[in-house]
Amino acid sequence: MPGERLRAEVFALFAEHVSSGKVAFFERAGMDFALGRREGAFLWDVEGERRLIDCHCNGGVFNLGHRHPDCIAALRTALDELDIGNHHLISPQRAALAESLAELTPGDLAYTVFGVGGGEAVDLAIKVARAFTGRSGIVSARGGYHGHTGLALAAGDEKFRAPFGPAAPGFKQVEFGDADAMAAALGPHVAAVLLETIPATLGIVVPPDGYLEQVRWLCDAAGALLIIDEVQTGLGRTGRLWGVDHYGVTPDLMVLGKGLSGGVFPLTATVFRRELDSVFHDDPFLHISTFGGAELGCPVAARVLELSSEPAFLAHVRSMGARFSAGFGELRDAHPGVLAGSRGVGLMLGLELTDPAFGPLLSKTAFDSGLLAIYAYHDPSVVQFLPPLTIEPALADEILDRLDTALTALEAIVGGRRGG
Ligand SMILES: Cc1ncc(COP(=O)(O)O)c(C=O)c1O
Repeated sequence: MPGERLRAEVFALFAEHVSSGKVAFFERAGMDFALGRREGAFLWDVEGERRLIDCHCNGGVFNLGHRHPDCIAALRTALDELDIGNHHLISPQRAALAESLAELTPGDLAYTVFGVGGGEAVDLAIKVARAFTGRSGIVSARGGYHGHTGLALAAGDEKFRAPFGPAAPGFKQVEFGDADAMAAALGPHVAAVLLETIPATLGIVVPPDGYLEQVRWLCDAAGALLIIDEVQTGLGRTGRLWGVDHYGVTPDLMVLGKGLSGGVFPLTATVFRRELDSVFHDDPFLHISTFGGAELGCPVAARVLELSSEPAFLAHVRSMGARFSAGFGELRDAHPGVLAGSRGVGLMLGLELTDPAFGPLLSKTAFDSGLLAIYAYHDPSVVQFLPPLTIEPALADEILDRLDTALTALEAIVGGRRGG
């Protein structure tokens, strides 16, 4: 069993058969960790020696912590009766889960097509918007991230597309937060605007006041649909069930992924307005995903929705978010040369460093201090901070202590270098 191999053997095997590049990257970074046991907020390496507190959660997959007992129980029960199911057939499990999503999502979002990955779900959202409007243009945010499948990739950053051949036509990116740029990009050719509520890979950028409301208004004026990607911001991460709940904006299509899996069975969702279901009236088999909405995963996702929509759970996220933000303020005062501040909503947080070179360095010193915290790919001056939403105050305080140590180590590395 791979889990029983020593770390060095796993690294060698992985380098030989999965990705030599990743192994080289982690060796260069001095992060000699191969994932072993995991439970709650914790990850252990395969040798069981090193323990990390997960402050990344794979972008929200582990919103409820690792191996949440209710998710495991739902999956075990499902295994007694179900299997993947057949995407072509009528399914009670998918119907029930879609009903819950219709009840919990804002406005008239009434229909759901299930997928396996977030990119696939974004692709479907774009397909529905194009088919419904008869237009092809898609406007998204520069530096946004929607996945690495075809249309999602085309809506994302140039860097991820460049090596892979000609760009798909019809896509345009504008600065996130710039309503004038959005207005200029919209026109009669645009089918949809696609945005994350709080772009994570761009560095947990909180939308400026009124921005999303303005985008909603601009879409309506231009006859374009609004697709909101809640793959990271959804399911309580921001202290409300959906990120858009903070801004009073109702999208035409909403994309969910990551946390919907409960961390134990991959499942994603494209939820859209009732009217948009007309796209599939002539041919309901126009879109197929063999494993999309696999029946084994539906009871898990249903339990995730129940837990995540509890008012007490959402209040807990807000209170822990406030605790961390206060703690980050103290850390900034203690380490002003490297830590400029923090930003975010609820437990979707980012640590703002004084220099883009510091993000990767803090990821490393945090690792050495027992924390998994990863810098934002498109803004390495920010370290993303996404702990499990179930985190308790004592562990939050331990994380803040460990961050203090990590920031001290960062200061030692950069030799007291002072940023802006
Ligand atoms: C905001 C957002 N949208 C979409 C995706 C793509 O999801 P997946 O990796 O499941 O395809 C991601 C993945 O990180 C994401 O962060």
